[in-house]
Amino acid sequence: MNLQGNRLTWLGHATFRIETKDGTVIYIDPWLSNPLCPENEKDVKKCDVLICTHGHGDHIGDAVKIAKQHNPMVVGIFELCAWMQKKGAKQISAMNKGGTQTVAGIKITMTDAVHSCGIEDDDGSMVYGGEACGYVLELPGGVKLYHAGDTAVFGDMQIIHEIYRPEIALLPIGDHFTMGPREAAHACMLLQPKTVIPMHFGTFPMLTGRPGELKKLLGPGGPEILEMKPGQTL
Ligand code: NI
Ligand code: MN
Repeated sequence: MNLQGNRLTWLGHATFRIETKDGTVIYIDPWLSNPLCPENEKDVKKCDVLICTHGHGDHIGDAVKIAKQHNPMVVGIFELCAWMQKKGAKQISAMNKGGTQTVAGIKITMTDAVHSCGIEDDDGSMVYGGEACGYVLELPGGVKLYHAGDTAVFGDMQIIHEIYRPEIALLPIGDHFTMGPREAAHACMLLQPKTVIPMHFGTFPMLTGRPGELKKLLGPGGPEILEMKPGQTL
């Protein structure tokens, strides 16, 4: 796998940090209080772009805090961005599925995801958060990476392959709330990535899917299954 001088760090669950070769720092689905996140990563030092796939607490748990601390450009679906703005985010760049925008030199395409998107507000009420989505990011140097968000497998993953051709796919495999290894193996057939980085597993006991099962289902000839350690940087 060649990241063309960009750096990718997994912080447990669906949380990733990308540092581009130009020095831009991107957080995707920041939930740094997740049990897998290393202690020294719980405080964010810099964030230029904050990308959210949907409004569940295990994806935006630290989004408001980071927005207030570092004033990043917040990217998300329209309704979720409106909520973030209400909570104090100063810079938002809302979008919707099928669209592409360039933020800080990164080409961001919002894709579909099959999942729900309610936001649990501070008072416990459930706020409409638009729909759950995924993203294809084209980083400086041209490397394309797909963060699927939380999703079931869906046939239009083939369209994501046909139009955007991401070579790296970050796929949830934990089961119960998202795809498990069985569904993720089918997603690999549709997406045809070179490299798969499993996520959204092992955080809680009920997220039972494991990279080894996905590897076994795909067999030789499938994509490279790259199992990252929380805190590891590529
Ligand atoms: Ni979710
Ligand atoms: Mn989730």
